[in-house]
Amino acid sequence: MSLAPSPSATMKPPRGKLPVSIITIVICGFAFLALLYAETSRSFFKLKSCPRRHAAKKSKDRTAGDNLKSFELDDRFEFDPEECTVNTGKWVFNKSLEPFYTDRSCPYLDRQVSCVKNGRRDFDYRRWEWQPDDCTLPRFNPELALKKLRGKRLMFVGDSLQRGQWQSLVCLVEWLIPEDKKSLKRGRFLSVFRAKEYDATIEFYWAPYLIESNSDQPIIGDPKKRILKVDSIEKHAKNWRGVDILVFNSYVWWMSGLRLKTLWGSFANGEEGYEELDTPVAYKIGFKTWANWVDSNIDPNKTRIFFTTMSPTHTRSADWNNTKGIKCFNETKPVTKKRYWGSGSDKRMMSVVASIIGKMKVPVTVLNITQLSEYRIDAHTSVYTETGGKMLTDKQKADPLHHADCIHWCLPGVPDTWNQIFLAYL
Ligand SMILES: *[C@@H]1O[C@H](CO)[C@@H](O)[C@H](O)[C@H]1NC(C)=O
Ligand SMILES: *[C@@H]1O[C@H](CO)[C@@H](O)[C@H](O)[C@H]1NC(C)=O
Ligand SMILES: *[C@@H]1O[C@H](CO)[C@@H](O)[C@H](O)[C@H]1NC(C)=O
Ligand SMILES: *[C@@H]1O[C@H](CO)[C@@H](O)[C@H](O)[C@H]1NC(C)=O
Ligand SMILES: *[C@@H]1O[C@H](CO)[C@@H](O)[C@H](O)[C@H]1NC(C)=O
Repeated sequence: MSLAPSPSATMKPPRGKLPVSIITIVICGFAFLALLYAETSRSFFKLKSCPRRHAAKKSKDRTAGDNLKSFELDDRFEFDPEECTVNTGKWVFNKSLEPFYTDRSCPYLDRQVSCVKNGRRDFDYRRWEWQPDDCTLPRFNPELALKKLRGKRLMFVGDSLQRGQWQSLVCLVEWLIPEDKKSLKRGRFLSVFRAKEYDATIEFYWAPYLIESNSDQPIIGDPKKRILKVDSIEKHAKNWRGVDILVFNSYVWWMSGLRLKTLWGSFANGEEGYEELDTPVAYKIGFKTWANWVDSNIDPNKTRIFFTTMSPTHTRSADWNNTKGIKCFNETKPVTKKRYWGSGSDKRMMSVVASIIGKMKVPVTVLNITQLSEYRIDAHTSVYTETGGKMLTDKQKADPLHHADCIHWCLPGVPDTWNQIFLAYL
């Protein structure tokens, strides 16, 4: 758990197989996550081709000349979920950008992600806007969000990253609602924010693997003792019935090792009958269980399903060539290299998601946040967080190698952009 990438390591992950050291790093992150996030979690996106862009290019040829430059600026078309690839683009700095909320103004944020309260003194990480190459992404509009949610139940389901996304959305809209017209009730598995006048709820359900495991609640700190029931989901899924909009994620908890202990069927030998499977194989079975549940229980005319892709971790600074860096600690600017992809996002896991979702009967909107979040090495909670319910001490803060959290994101921050995209698709 205290393992960390050697800052001077420059080994590049070969395609397909990840070197053990990287896996170890990921594992550390994991175990760490388990300890930290006992009952919480969060994440989002999607991609498509943009035929209209080519149309625009053609007309550009015709209007070549003096107008070319200004035309270029207007080349992006208005957002259309069918046509815009939101996951290719860049982060643009806007020094006058102010988030809708702060970790002081929003009463519902966990201390874990309240970076400013926890001592973070650089604020630029909150002033970057995501700009897709092909279209203009509409700014988040809190009034519109509440309007779209009127009379509905929205539930985020997943891990602590998904929980961050949930808290981000709650904070993005709650300030519009008077004190006595809103409430938040926290539970072991289910937490519910209610906007009374809108007859709407924004809920979070804790299910870090989506399928059942012996470590859902309470969490088992040692990943080796966790056993996943890859064909069982009903215990969690029965709580998802009747919800109007479901947003799922599940990634980082699977990355606790090269292999996972898995179990299926129910036999008298119980947990002793487990089998160790390679992570992507276990993920494929578990994710398929989820997909089968959705396909056989969800009426797509009544319920919308979203899936948030993996939220990148940034525990290996050599990935972005900062050989003297310590994980994401002290990073204050996003990576600018186009299509940057670090070792914290496993492409094999992504392809499992893509192939299974592609074959589902019920349409699933993919919130493909991985690429855009990959750039944001500057936006994690780092040492401005807590561990086991306690703020990091000054001594721990001075030891980022062991204590910086480069998995979770500060709020306000990157998950606000995930919600901006979510709302655009909603
Ligand atoms: C920067 O953010 C402000 C405040 O949201 C906005 O009014 C302005 O248009 C933004 N600037 C650019 C260049 O997008
Ligand atoms: C959904 O609605 C469409 C159009 O009203 C209908 O043709 C289709 O059978 C419905 N699907 C389900 C699963 O009820
Ligand atoms: C890191 O350095 C290599 C070799 O110079 C280069 O190809 C790569 O683009 C760099 N990566 C980043 C994120 O700048
Ligand atoms: C972190 O950044 C600050 C400000 O740039 C610098 O003074 C400090 O030395 C850095 N710490 C480490 C461990 O790199
Ligand atoms: C998400 O986008 C990446 C490219 O950034 C792509 O490789 C991947 O297949 C997409 N994932 C899904 C589930 O569609």
